[in-house]
Amino acid sequence: MGFNRFSLPAVAVIMMINAMLLSQGCLEEERIALLQIKTSFGDDPNDISSPLFSWGKNALCCSWEGVTCSNSTTRRVVEIHLFFARDWYSSMGDWYLNASIFLPFQELKVLDLGGNGIAGCVANEGFERLSRLNKLEALYLLNNNFNNSILSSMKGLSSLKYLNLDFNRLQGSIDTKEFDSLRNLKELLLAENEIQDFITLTGSEGPSRLNKLETLDLSSNYLYDSTLSFFKGLSSLKYLYLDHNWLHGSIDTKGLCELNRLQKLDISYNNITGSLPSCFSNLTNLQALDISFNHFTGNISLSLIGSLTSIRDLKLSDNHFQIPISLGPFFNLSNLKNLNGDRNELYESTELVHNLIPRFQLQGLSLACTGSSWTFPKFLYYQHDLQFVDLSHIKMTGEFPRWLLQNNTKLEELYLVNNSLSGSFHLANHSLVSWLSHLDISRNRIHNEIPTEIGAYFPRLVFLNLSRNDFSGSIPSSISNMSLLEVLDLSNNGLSGNIPEQLVEGCLSLGVLVLSNNYLKGQFFWKKFNLTYLTELILKGNQLTGILPNSLSNGSRLETLDVSLNNLSGKIPRWMFSLLYLNLSENNLFGSLPSNFCSSGMMTRSLIGALDGCSWLNKLDLSHNSLTGEIPFELGYLNNIHVLNLSHNSLTGPIPPAFSNLKKIESLDISYNNLNGKIPYQLVDLNSLFTFSVAYNNLSGKIPEMVAQFVTFSESSYEGNPLLCGPPLTNNCSGEILPSPLSRYGFIDMQAFYVTFSVAYIINLLTISAVLYINPHWRRAWFYFIRESINNCYYFLVDNLHVPARFRRFQPCV
Ligand SMILES: *[C@@H]1O[C@H](CO)[C@@H](O)[C@H](O)[C@H]1NC(C)=O
Ligand SMILES: *[C@@H]1O[C@H](CO)[C@@H](O)[C@H](O)[C@H]1NC(C)=O
Ligand SMILES: *[C@@H]1O[C@H](CO)[C@@H](O)[C@H](O)[C@H]1NC(C)=O
Ligand SMILES: *[C@@H]1O[C@H](CO)[C@@H](O)[C@H](O)[C@H]1NC(C)=O
Ligand SMILES: *[C@@H]1O[C@H](CO)[C@@H](O)[C@H](O)[C@H]1NC(C)=O
Ligand SMILES: *[C@@H]1O[C@H](CO)[C@@H](O)[C@H](O)[C@H]1NC(C)=O
Ligand SMILES: *[C@@H]1O[C@H](CO)[C@@H](O)[C@H](O)[C@H]1NC(C)=O
Ligand SMILES: *[C@@H]1O[C@H](CO)[C@@H](O)[C@H](O)[C@H]1NC(C)=O
Ligand SMILES: *[C@@H]1O[C@H](CO)[C@@H](O)[C@H](O)[C@H]1NC(C)=O
Ligand SMILES: *[C@@H]1O[C@H](CO)[C@@H](O)[C@H](O)[C@H]1NC(C)=O
Ligand SMILES: *[C@@H]1O[C@H](CO)[C@@H](O)[C@H](O)[C@H]1NC(C)=O
Ligand SMILES: *[C@@H]1O[C@H](CO)[C@@H](O)[C@H](O)[C@H]1NC(C)=O
Repeated sequence: MGFNRFSLPAVAVIMMINAMLLSQGCLEEERIALLQIKTSFGDDPNDISSPLFSWGKNALCCSWEGVTCSNSTTRRVVEIHLFFARDWYSSMGDWYLNASIFLPFQELKVLDLGGNGIAGCVANEGFERLSRLNKLEALYLLNNNFNNSILSSMKGLSSLKYLNLDFNRLQGSIDTKEFDSLRNLKELLLAENEIQDFITLTGSEGPSRLNKLETLDLSSNYLYDSTLSFFKGLSSLKYLYLDHNWLHGSIDTKGLCELNRLQKLDISYNNITGSLPSCFSNLTNLQALDISFNHFTGNISLSLIGSLTSIRDLKLSDNHFQIPISLGPFFNLSNLKNLNGDRNELYESTELVHNLIPRFQLQGLSLACTGSSWTFPKFLYYQHDLQFVDLSHIKMTGEFPRWLLQNNTKLEELYLVNNSLSGSFHLANHSLVSWLSHLDISRNRIHNEIPTEIGAYFPRLVFLNLSRNDFSGSIPSSISNMSLLEVLDLSNNGLSGNIPEQLVEGCLSLGVLVLSNNYLKGQFFWKKFNLTYLTELILKGNQLTGILPNSLSNGSRLETLDVSLNNLSGKIPRWMFSLLYLNLSENNLFGSLPSNFCSSGMMTRSLIGALDGCSWLNKLDLSHNSLTGEIPFELGYLNNIHVLNLSHNSLTGPIPPAFSNLKKIESLDISYNNLNGKIPYQLVDLNSLFTFSVAYNNLSGKIPEMVAQFVTFSESSYEGNPLLCGPPLTNNCSGEILPSPLSRYGFIDMQAFYVTFSVAYIINLLTISAVLYINPHWRRAWFYFIRESINNCYYFLVDNLHVPARFRRFQPCV
């Protein structure tokens, strides 16, 4: 033949390119139509984040994002996905679609128009136009603004199998005749609308036309007064969602109980009362039933539950059922895998279970109810597949059930909170390693030591809570072998000794560490602490010593620090402003409060915070220490602070008028100090203030007017200041002059200030310009100095000149 050994590869390449082009190309007619769609969706050609950005960039329209073509040689467009395809701003308002733009896609199967703010179609161009597209199976219209009229425009879409109208504006009663022509529908999703009922007018065939419907989602609507009779005739229904619907009273179950193909029924989060309808026992195909968060009552008995033989997942939580802790009525439900009976009433009953073995092997069991003393129920001894167990608050007695861990090697989460477990915390021997990721046995009476080998036995723990037991001895250093540990709470026990150094260094993923109210002592290893992940550190109520470090490690995420009631000494560190919650009360801290927090030691997070108003600090408690010096006015810019307690120190000087900026403050306690001067009258602006005390200082002059929140503060807020006068105190302010509006500018002489400032400014400017012009090193140093000075100056000015709020946002902390 004519091919030589060179042309053969060339032909192959050409054929490959052809195949590639073919595989990505589509009909010219469809390509043009796609470009029209792009135009009508108002696509911004420069917005690379737009889903339609790739459209039209090349001719290979089958490769455009959201477009799928058939695999046949004809390469017709079969799916168009335009989910949130309009730009965000324009999709805010209502938009009207021309459905005819999809007519060229004769083979179209899936059309996704979700999230585009579509309120309807332009006149005469509604979805009924698409009745010619007889391959159209799926229409996704979720997250738009369609009202009820969308349903009548679906007429003729008889090929449709999937219709999604979640999150639209359907409301009130819906006439079932609207669905008459959608006779092939398998899935109808109408969640998150305001539908109240379905009605069937005479002459209509009613819902029985939807005899292929398998899934109906009506969750989060307003079916509160509905009779639920419209389900009659939905003979294929398998999945029905009626949760979050304000259903109340005892439900009319006529419609429901006839749905004997039903596999999943969700009626959770309603207000249904009465007992579970006995006709539910007809639902023998039911695999998942969720009736949690209602007001169901009654005894969970064999006759009620025993015939649900297919049931796999059963959620009964948050009702008023009586459930026998033996789980006798469930014994024959051999398919049951997950049972949640939280917050119902458990009762003791051994009836039915004498010598019987349960036929279920559970994977998830949750029976967190309130209750009286029980021993672990017998059925538990037969389980070996458990992955999740929550038996909290039911006052279970006995020792920690280590057999449960041995029997169920896949157990991942075990919660036995608030029971009456006692004895020692024995673990199995080393040959067994547990899969457990969450263990909470807090609020029990377990005593003796925490097993030294705990780290080896639970190497995968993420969450460990042993708080509120009677553990004694020291903290085992093997905890540091739990390399995935994120939360460790050993608080409220009798633990003593040092905090193991390995714990601080080793657990790199640790995010929350709570060791409060124990007898821990010794130096606290601040320097070794890696704060890369730690957000919460609670060491309150121990006997720790040491000095708070000057700086936190780079990239610290620490938000909450409570080391109150210890023996720490040293000064209050500047980084306190970078936290959310700080409690250093009842230690031996001394020195003055940090000020000028903008100029140094700030971390990225607090910088961001600073730009939007300073500081995140929400609660600050420095009470019962030996702090001296003045209260820095910077504290007046903690505009997120809710609680500020500086009481029982030796602070001097005035109360900064800037405290009137603490708009969110609810509790301000500066009692038991040596403060003097007046109480700034501007404090009456603090509208959230609930608790206020300046008692036992040397304050003088008139108490702020009894207006706004200050009406509620009594004499006790001010007592122990002999020179204070005015109501609510009994001594009158004779000769006291009320502050005039001018004195709002504070105590500095403004004229003198301006003159001095201007002269100094001009001299500085001339000298410095000359020097900087000559020496580049000094130039850098100068700009550094300027930045520092601006910080210092700024707060002085803000404090004294009442800089308007809009300027305050531009703080020179950067
Ligand atoms: C085309 O074929 C691929 C690979 O066999 C398959 O994954 C894809 O779903 C098919 N597409 C259509 C629209 O049938
Ligand atoms: C709707 O789109 C079709 C096809 O692009 C066009 O022929 C028709 O004029 C449009 N209708 C309106 C009202 O814009
Ligand atoms: C429903 O939407 C259509 C537009 O598609 C509009 O003409 C009609 O007035 C709306 N109906 C109600 C009750 O808002
Ligand atoms: C349930 O009933 C209570 C009391 O009547 C009512 O306050 C609550 O809003 C109702 N909740 C729902 C989801 O219907
Ligand atoms: C339960 O099913 C039986 C037999 O299938 C039927 O006769 C009865 O009417 C059903 N009960 C209800 C309440 O639907
Ligand atoms: C629940 O029903 C069982 C069996 O019918 C009965 O023995 C038990 O006393 C009942 N319990 C309660 C609390 O009503
Ligand atoms: C469970 O089923 C067995 C036989 O299938 C039956 O003998 C027994 O009574 C049933 N027990 C319960 C509690 O339903
Ligand atoms: C502990 O359990 C008891 C009894 O079950 C309950 O009354 C109490 O509220 C529970 N305590 C906590 C803190 O959950
Ligand atoms: C579970 O542990 C108990 C107590 O050690 C034992 O009697 C029982 O046989 C074990 N069950 C399984 C399924 O291993
Ligand atoms: C540890 O447990 C295994 C299995 O339960 C057992 O075979 C072994 O003898 C035990 N070892 C010790 C030291 O108790
Ligand atoms: C540990 O358990 C106690 C008591 O149940 C609880 O108050 C505390 O919040 C838990 N700790 C953590 C970190 O979840
Ligand atoms: C802290 O841990 C992180 C993550 O493991 C590591 O990248 C970082 O270098 C450590 N920092 C210090 C100061 O040890």
